[in-house]
Parts: sequence; structure tokens; C-alpha cells
Amino acid sequence: MTFCRVIDINRRHFLAGAGAAVLATGAPRLAHATTTGQRLVADEGRTVLTTGRGSVPADTWSYGGSVPGPLLRYRRGERLDVTFENRLQEPSAVHWHGLRPPNGMDGAAPLTQAPVPPGETYRYDFDLDDAGTYWYHTHFRGWNQQDRGLYGVIIVDEESPPAVDRDLLLVLDDWVLTRRGTLSTDFGDMHEWAHAGRLGNLATINNAADADVPVTAGERIRLRLVNVANAQIFALMFDGHDPVVIAEDGNPVTPWALGEKELLLGPGQRADLIVDAVGAPSSRHTIRAYTLRDEVNMGAFVYADREGGSGLAGTDIAPLETNARPSLNRAGARRLELRMEGGAMGGMGRAMMGGRMMGMRELMRNRRIWAFNGVAGDMDAPLATLKRGETVIVDIINDTAFPHAMHLHGMHFREIARNGAPIEDGAWRDTSLMASDDRVEIAFVAETPGRWMLHCHMIEHQAGGMMTFLEIEGDAA
Ligand code: C2O
Ligand code: CU
Repeated sequence: MTFCRVIDINRRHFLAGAGAAVLATGAPRLAHATTTGQRLVADEGRTVLTTGRGSVPADTWSYGGSVPGPLLRYRRGERLDVTFENRLQEPSAVHWHGLRPPNGMDGAAPLTQAPVPPGETYRYDFDLDDAGTYWYHTHFRGWNQQDRGLYGVIIVDEESPPAVDRDLLLVLDDWVLTRRGTLSTDFGDMHEWAHAGRLGNLATINNAADADVPVTAGERIRLRLVNVANAQIFALMFDGHDPVVIAEDGNPVTPWALGEKELLLGPGQRADLIVDAVGAPSSRHTIRAYTLRDEVNMGAFVYADREGGSGLAGTDIAPLETNARPSLNRAGARRLELRMEGGAMGGMGRAMMGGRMMGMRELMRNRRIWAFNGVAGDMDAPLATLKRGETVIVDIINDTAFPHAMHLHGMHFREIARNGAPIEDGAWRDTSLMASDDRVEIAFVAETPGRWMLHCHMIEHQAGGMMTFLEIEGDAA
């Protein structure tokens, strides 16, 4: 695997500069309440961030008055039925990242629906066929709205979930705080857009820097990790523990032990882990991460002073129930190429915008500095029009100086090759992390009619031109 090259990029380009302060411990909110969330209200508000030096009331935007928004939890086969109400001062829409709804429910405004104006509502209503860990977030002006906190987590439980003592949710984000400790609102900085995106100076788990994750010796935990950051990549290490990965991007994988590897999570990606609490009572074990900026202590497993657990720890870990997936017809697949260009140090001289060729300066003035196949984010024509049921292979070439996290809406894909090396049995994913100069082939079946976005999930890159869509023929619901 070449993923470690992402970390090389970190060290080469981003290690300089002061790190986030990670001094004292914070109390994370390991929220695990069940909410059916019939109404999801977006509004302005406040969120307390624990910085290690104290608490900061940050001016955030949120769903349901909290960041993350309410945990939406269902069982496979249930129906998501959420009425979104927009109480913001600007339009918005909700995207259900990793779920496979009909096109009109995808929330990718303005491609699949008109953005919901302030004061209005939109009803999202579709069946949940896939179990796993997913999330929802704004899909309109995300470089502003998502960074202010408009996101939440969706859990769809398996019919028979694995036996664990506890199911914990860790939401990873990073924030840009000003020197006075408030949330910086200098969104839209073109320098950031042309580089790695808006990287925070405070990395948090459940809103706390260096968060305490309380555990009891002897218990088995299912840990669900969700990277909701705008642009940040986390390469996580769990000192003193050997987590086993059971799902990536919500999709079950053949369980594999992390061992000495770092768990890489690009923006939008998720992982489900089984962690056996093998530490001693009263011990403390750091959860560290390399990011695109520095090395941080994200938190720690903080052990209670007694033992517990039900004896599950140490027993075999069975694979999760599978989600139904179409079979890929690789021999007859349609092949597409997608070349990513632009950004700082990328050497892009010009690209199409608004149907016209523009030089870099004019593109910059229009806030477009990235391109796919020479087109800087125009959404008037699809990358390709696909027949329903056909297998498609997209050869994605990262011809830029930065890593990217490529996300496909509406379908899950398999990574089938990376830099020429075939990947046997790659996991089904919805977001693929690519290092600078990586070349990744993804394969999927064109399942559902409509227009499905394919974009970088570093939101500033998306807004800056790294977006396109695939059109699947047929009647889109
Ligand atoms: Cu998670 Cu197009 O988004
Ligand atoms: Cu990107």
C-alpha cells in the first residue's frame, strides 16, 4: 500500500509551524442517544469546544442545536424520513453521505434539488438498505456551512450486530480558532483553497482536544470513527491496543488487525473497529494522529480503576453481515479517465470555466483553481452518461501536489488498482484517499438513474473546481 505516502506529504510539507495545543484533558460527549429525527432544523448557535486550556464557546451552525447534529439511528430496512427545516440566513440542503437514496433525495444542491431557501423545508424520505456507519452534512456552500458544524452521524444497525460491551462513536474534526479563542470565520481564503484546504489548529474528538475516552479493562468496544473535517486527514495510532478493522465507509470488510499500521481517514471516510480493552485498570493510553499539519494527541483511553466486561474481549471477531452489492463485470466494463489538475505547485496553465478557456489568473478571480479533465468545476455536462446496470471503471490520476479524497454519490465502488498494482478484493467504499501523484482505479455498477456527484471531499477543493457528475440513464425518482 502506498498510503504512507500521504504521511510523507505531511512530514515534508506541513510539519513546520506550531501545533495545536493539547495540554489538559477534555470531557468528550460520547453521545449515543437514539433519535428518529423526524425534523432536522438547521440554525445558528453555540458549541462548547474543549481546547485543553479550557472551554471555548464557538459560534457554530448546527442541526438540532448541537454539533454534531442528532444521531440518526435506524435498523437496516427501516425508512429514513426527515423533514429538513432551514432557519439559516442562507439556502442549504442535506446530503446523506454513503447512503444510496433515489436521486431526488441525495441533497446535492443545486444538481439534484434546488437549495432550500431560508424559512423553508424539504422532506427526505427513502429506504435504508445498507447497515453501517454513515453521516449527513450540508451540501451547499459546504466550505462555509460544513466547517461551522452542519453535520451529524447516521448509524444503520445490522439485523444481528456483533456482540460488544459498548458501541462508541468518535467524531473527528478540526477547527480554526482565532487567537482570542473564537471560531475563525475567514472562510474562502484562496490560499487555503489552492493548498490543502482549510486545516484547523484544534483537532477534536467529539468537540474535545485530547479527549478522554473512558474504558473499562476487559471490555470489548465497537468504535465508530467518522472524519467530518473539511480537509484534514487523520492517520490514527492507538497506543497499547490492537484494533481490528471490521468496516470501512460503512461497508463490512474481512476483519484485519491494524498492527503497526496507522488508520487513515480522509475527509468523509469512516471506519468501524473492534477494540479490546487490554490495558490495566487506572492506566491511560494515547490516541495519536498525524495530520496534514502536525502530530497531535487526539485523546486517550482512560481506564477505570476496576475490571469489567462480559468476557467477550479476546474472542474471535466475525465479519459483519454483508450489504447487498451488485457484481462487477470488469471484463465488459466501460472505462473513464479522470485527471485531477491544478492547485499550488500544480503547474496548471488554463482550464475551461463557464464553457470558455481561461488562464490561471482569470480562474483565480472566479475562485476556481482546480480542474478535472481540464474543466474547472463546470456542472453543465456530465463526465459521462452511463447505462443503468453497466460496470464502470474510473481511472483517477492525481496530477497535483496534494492528497485528495474522492467521493462518489449514490453508489459504492471498489478500489481495484493503485499505482498499477491490482488490489484483490478491495473494500467497497464511497470515498478514496489519494496521495499526491497517486493513480487509483475504482469500479462500480451504475445502479440508480439520475445525476451523481463525483468530487473531492476536501470541501475547498470541491468548491475550487474539483467536482463533476455522472449521469445514469433512466427515470430518476
Ligand atoms: Cu459527503 Cu458530496 O459529499
Ligand atoms: Cu482535494
